[in-house]
Amino acid sequence: MSQSLPQYDRIYFGDCLEVLRHWPEGFADLIYIDPPFNTGQTRRLQTIRLGRGALLRRGFSGRQYKYQIVSDLSYSDNMPLEEYLDFLYQRILEGWRILKPTGSFFLHVDPRIVHYARGILDDVFGAERFINEIIWAYDYGGRPRDRFPPKHDNILWYAKSDIWTFNVEEIERIPYMAPNLVSPDKAARGKLPTDVWWITIVPTNARERTGYPTQKPEKLLERIIRAASRPGDLVVDYFAGSGTTGAVARRLGRHWILVDINPQAVAVMQQRLAAPAIPDAS
Ligand SMILES: C[S@@+](CC[C@H](N)C(=O)[O-])C[C@H]1O[C@@H](n2cnc3c(N)ncnc32)[C@H](O)[C@@H]1O
Repeated sequence: MSQSLPQYDRIYFGDCLEVLRHWPEGFADLIYIDPPFNTGQTRRLQTIRLGRGALLRRGFSGRQYKYQIVSDLSYSDNMPLEEYLDFLYQRILEGWRILKPTGSFFLHVDPRIVHYARGILDDVFGAERFINEIIWAYDYGGRPRDRFPPKHDNILWYAKSDIWTFNVEEIERIPYMAPNLVSPDKAARGKLPTDVWWITIVPTNARERTGYPTQKPEKLLERIIRAASRPGDLVVDYFAGSGTTGAVARRLGRHWILVDINPQAVAVMQQRLAAPAIPDAS
């Protein structure tokens, strides 16, 4: 198969395994991926507009409201576990291949998958290349009555070699929990975040909201991209969804490449980034 460098600041449409196989090794500075979690569901998000349309919804105290569906976005997230882990393994291996020797890889999963994911990453990168497990904590959604509500995702950070980027000075500092226990200077400057990050999910009324299911907040990507890449570097996300990684990379002066298999995702990204999409190369 002939391989050539992809175009930067572009959206690629297709199965990332096929798309990445057309690219040479060792050119990406930072990879962040947020693959489907294998929840066995179809992920779906409908956005509705109240007050017009032919559909009726029953609201508080039995009142009826007219509404119309203005967008209906979905992708499927179901595979037997073994098949899913094999799917992930092959795609992580391709990610490792296209990373520069100084590159970093961030894998976003959840507590149901993280133990398997860690095994795969140890295998591909080597256990000694593990840097952090970031806990992204949020507080949203249902609360089961038979356990503590699970309200975090896990982001595993591995480096390709023993040299990687960590821009301490670029990372937004956060307030100390007990500012009176440190000097006033330190309290005013704030502290470097730990590996537990409290960041709210994308609020319904936020400007960044695209309507794509499982869209991640820009603040989360901002911390990752600021910490693990430099201006001018190339950031790749090959499970890109609504294109959060590309939007933040561009704002922070990094180059970006996004890949997704879902035409709806590609359409959302084209609109968000006003960038052309390149069709499936396979
Ligand atoms: C959890 S979502 C990513 C959400 C994204 N981080 C955001 O902020 O919007 C996972 C994405 O992976 C895509 N996907 C699933 N299988 C894929 C494959 N084989 N190649 C490329 N993309 C794939 C899905 O279409 C979906 O958009």
